[in-house]
Amino acid sequence: MKWLSDVSLTPHHTFGLPAHAHAIAEAHTVVDLYAIWQHPDFLALPKLVVGEGSNLLFCQDFQGVVVLNRLTGVSVDDHADHTILHVGAGESWHDLVAWSIDNDLPGLENLALIPGCVGAAPIQNIGAYGVEFCERCAYVDILNPVTQEMRRLTRDDCQFGYRDSIFKTSALQGWVITQVGFRLTKAWQPILKYGALAELESEHATPRAIFDAVCAIRQAKLPDPRVCGNAGSFFKNPVIEARQANALQTRYPEMPMYPAGEGKAKLAAGWLIEQCGLKGAKQGGARVHSKQALVLTNADHATSQDVVRLAKRVVNEVQARFGVTLHHEVRFMGAQGETSLEAQ
Ligand code: FAD
Ligand code: EPU
Repeated sequence: MKWLSDVSLTPHHTFGLPAHAHAIAEAHTVVDLYAIWQHPDFLALPKLVVGEGSNLLFCQDFQGVVVLNRLTGVSVDDHADHTILHVGAGESWHDLVAWSIDNDLPGLENLALIPGCVGAAPIQNIGAYGVEFCERCAYVDILNPVTQEMRRLTRDDCQFGYRDSIFKTSALQGWVITQVGFRLTKAWQPILKYGALAELESEHATPRAIFDAVCAIRQAKLPDPRVCGNAGSFFKNPVIEARQANALQTRYPEMPMYPAGEGKAKLAAGWLIEQCGLKGAKQGGARVHSKQALVLTNADHATSQDVVRLAKRVVNEVQARFGVTLHHEVRFMGAQGETSLEAQ
């Protein structure tokens, strides 16, 4: 187990903002995780497990141990009508998707090019272009590094929802995701329901064609964190009462709106933000992305406080104009642990 003290977090999260951690340790095995949690210098300190930091905003220096989850390995279990992939939490998500296409194991192609590690995918039930992680999940293996208890959660145990799961609740606080199981059916069907993918004619819609199309759409719309720091969609798309959504659509007939079950509707936060005239809006070095208003960027040496102020402005203006509250998707980290925009 390797660890360093007083380390910059800038290279360890995709916003690329200035922040430090008291210590950073890398875990390549479960034994490394035990060693970090038992280390005498770390016993009293908060721990934060990080993959690629692509859904994180460090609001202050973190006064604890950042644990980089680097548990790797992929194994394949072949069955008559499906394949199970058993994958280490520290594997790169996109590399896994690319590997699955190269090895004729389709099913993940709509989720190409999402940054991050496999172990973070269940936490917010990552989703894009018509598919959510939960639709391919067989199980999630977790470990409590204090008690050394290990558990396997079935897909139902995980209580997946839109950008949500049991891993965001206090029930599993302190547990680390170590492996993820995927179930890929051999009766593969293309999923082309997302607007731009519908243009692919279904007879040409091979897994690789979908993979390539998703990569191209994402590259055209979303800023590359290696060039311009960001954490993807900063806010979730708001899910509101269908009655309120219908009233808004009467006033704004062009407003995108999607049914969300149980008398609810989902709105497009990017559209709401753009309608407020906020595309390109700046606060210090932070900016609302000019091609996708749902993404806040570190355009020019931003600080986390620039991002926080810009996010507050976005929330306030959308609330004032549409009466809709935006909630952040990005996880806010304070000095001792998780915090929120409202607490800043
Ligand atoms: P991190 O940011 O490192 O961690 C996120 C949270 O999970 C933290 O609370 C962390 O403590 C916790 N965590 C991480 N690993 C573990 C573990 N092994 N055990 C326990 N807790 C853990 N998301 C989508 O859903 N769809 C998209 O289309 C999408 N597009 C994006 C595009 C860009 C350009 C960017 C920058 C982000 C995008 N995201 C998207 C968000 C992000 O990629 C996902 O949330 C991703 O799953 C985060 O992975 P990570 O390893 O970087 O997690
Ligand atoms: N829109 C605008 N202006 C904008 C942005 C979007 O009018 O600036 C409109 C679009 O024209 C479209 C609608 O809003 O009608 C939805 O936009 P888009 O298809 O780009 O998707 P999104 O809702 O903005 C969501 C996810 C993304 C995911 C894409 C593709 C959330 C919070 N975001 O974005 O996930 O990649 O769909 O499926 O659900 C992420 O979570 O980090 C992320 C990038």
